[in-house]
Amino acid sequence: MAEFTGKVAVITGSTRGIGRAVAEAIVKGGGKAVVSSRRAEAVEETVQALAGAGPGEVMGQVCDVRDPEACEALVSAAVDRFGGVDILVNNAGLGRFATIQEMGRESWDVQIRTNLDGVFHCSKAAVPHLQERGGGWIFNIGSLAGRNAFSGGVAYNASKWGLLGMTEAMMLDLRHEGIRVSCIMPGSVNTHFFEDGPDPDDDWKLQAQDIARVITDLLAFPDRALPSKVEIRPSQPPKK
Ligand SMILES: NC(=O)c1ccc[n+]([C@@H]2O[C@H](COP(=O)([O-])OP(=O)(O)OC[C@H]3O[C@@H](n4cnc5c(N)ncnc54)[C@H](OP(=O)(O)O)[C@@H]3O)[C@@H](O)[C@H]2O)c1
Repeated sequence: MAEFTGKVAVITGSTRGIGRAVAEAIVKGGGKAVVSSRRAEAVEETVQALAGAGPGEVMGQVCDVRDPEACEALVSAAVDRFGGVDILVNNAGLGRFATIQEMGRESWDVQIRTNLDGVFHCSKAAVPHLQERGGGWIFNIGSLAGRNAFSGGVAYNASKWGLLGMTEAMMLDLRHEGIRVSCIMPGSVNTHFFEDGPDPDDDWKLQAQDIARVITDLLAFPDRALPSKVEIRPSQPPKK
């Protein structure tokens, strides 16, 4: 039996980068992945691409995590199609970097509403279904920016710092119900997160698959063990 047989994972922001790598690992491991993002064509393309990665299954649903109703619909679609939810990966997120002097209200709002509110909306929608299964796992994709501030990070630092606190509180709320909650905190990952997109010359950076590996490795831990916070960084970044 493949390692995720029978497991259903909902992954937000999974049409590229880290989220897509997690979805692919779940499908390759025999699980059922629900992929999503704001754009229907990207969702469709991802479903097509991962459908052949089996033995697992994949379905797609458009979901802007800033919209609570869309988050409920995402989880409901997973339950309707696959019968329940075992794993939620709150991955959708973005960074808009500017100083407090330069940052506009819109940039602040989009980061807080995506990186923080979106996690609340999806978790609220998923928790009753994880309870129904008798347990599960919520992975919140934080960042090393959740504990290291930098100039230009006023909104991004706030969102990821808040996410770390939120994750720890949720972990304490849910642990006795068999629901584990972990914050995964990567350093630089070579994805479309950065304006210029992935750079083949940035071979010192982490790859999206490295973060997916953290999640799949944690899923193999025995029920008694809860690695609640994982920091992962490039082992040899350029020297400053
Ligand atoms: N790359 C890094 O160096 C790094 C480091 C630490 C942490 N992280 C975190 O890792 C997570 C994933 O980032 P990534 O590097 O994989 O970036 P990415 O390649 O830009 O992927 C981001 C994904 O999120 C989706 N998305 C954006 N806004 C959304 C919204 N409002 N609702 C639903 N989906 C949305 C995007 O699709 P659409 O645009 O189609 O919606 C895309 O699928 C983020 O939370 C990020 O903060 C990244």
